[in-house]
Amino acid sequence: MVFAIAAHAATPAPRSNGLALTPPIGWSSWNNFGEDINEQLVVDTIEAMIANGMRDAGYVFVNLDDGWQRYKGTRRDHPLEVDPKKFPHGIAWLSNYAHERGMKLGIYSGPGQTTCAGYTGSEGHEADDAKMFANWGIDHLKYDSCCSHRDAPKTELQRIFRTMSDALLAQKRGIVLHACHCGWGDIWEWASDLGVNHWRIGQDISDDFNYPGNREKYYFDVLDQLDRGVGLEKYAGPGHWNDYDMLIVGLDGKSKQLVGTGASNTEYRTHFSLWAMVSSPMLVGADIRKLDPYSLETLTNKEIIALNQDPAGNVAQKVRDDGDLEVFTRELADGSHAVLLLNRGATTAEMSFSPRRDMQVPMDRFSVRDLWKHRNLGTYDMPVTVEVQSHEARVFRIRQLTTSVNGRSGELSTEPAAR
Ligand code: GAL
Repeated sequence: MVFAIAAHAATPAPRSNGLALTPPIGWSSWNNFGEDINEQLVVDTIEAMIANGMRDAGYVFVNLDDGWQRYKGTRRDHPLEVDPKKFPHGIAWLSNYAHERGMKLGIYSGPGQTTCAGYTGSEGHEADDAKMFANWGIDHLKYDSCCSHRDAPKTELQRIFRTMSDALLAQKRGIVLHACHCGWGDIWEWASDLGVNHWRIGQDISDDFNYPGNREKYYFDVLDQLDRGVGLEKYAGPGHWNDYDMLIVGLDGKSKQLVGTGASNTEYRTHFSLWAMVSSPMLVGADIRKLDPYSLETLTNKEIIALNQDPAGNVAQKVRDDGDLEVFTRELADGSHAVLLLNRGATTAEMSFSPRRDMQVPMDRFSVRDLWKHRNLGTYDMPVTVEVQSHEARVFRIRQLTTSVNGRSGELSTEPAAR
């Protein structure tokens, strides 16, 4: 008995805010605007997301990143206040504006004396700041350590995020917590138990599909982020997600903030499909007011969003790796499976997949739906072979149609109508 009490005291119960049962999706100000943000931009972005169908496609978070604060400099020298020039009506007014329109407002701070862009941080004032955020009606906090503490002991990292998590939980207001931490200290192993809802697995994304040159300068392109996540799938699930960083779809190399020369339409679409498959939070980084039709069509593909938001929260696994040709699959809540065929190579390739061979799922007869063409391709009882262009990802949803039960065959499910 004495033993049991001691063990209990040494291992506190995991914290949970019960939020983010599917990955948070919405918009964040950083990737395009950096610190150059203000109230009118956020209001216009909300209105644009309503008008262009993004809100109704599920993008409800509107997140302020660094730059909303009044002062640059340390917290010792300055309070944490909103910049009244950038946000004349204040943050409570803005969150109310979002809430009245069925959306949620996110904010940004960090555990240091200053944030990454040099504004006052939350160090030593976590309880006050959590209270202020809750009073403002905030729904999401990105808590950013700026890739610092790379070599700090895990206990120190855990203390930092536990302190803010406890402060938020004490508010009795549901605030999703993002630990932005570049993946140091194997954060995926312990952040969920501290009440963190998502954690960055790598450094900042650049506006590139595959440009290793920027990696040496700190930034990760789309394929770097993807590769970084291999092996981490088991740490993600409802309420706690690996975060592959904010989306670059629609930036087209014109971001005021990110490095990178942009990607092609095909590459942005591949990036979006991959983030959906691995259940990353999907925070659009582009200027929503100026999205071109192709980017908007990419971002509002409800069949791809449904993979990201699938309630089972299974994360895609890479089941085949033939050099440049890779196959990712995941099981969905209704028993169907999503399959993504990725061609990382420079030329068009023929790729095939088979449920039995690649997924160890004994499907003898299955229907195949193409989630980008929005078309049922038919019924198969053999491997499916398709062409995949250079840097393209083709995404399918497959459903078992026949099974042998005690020697009999039976129809298990039928293909749903196109959405
Ligand atoms: C970085 C972070 C970026 C952005 C920036 C703000 O550390 O990775 O996503 O939040 O700080 O200064």
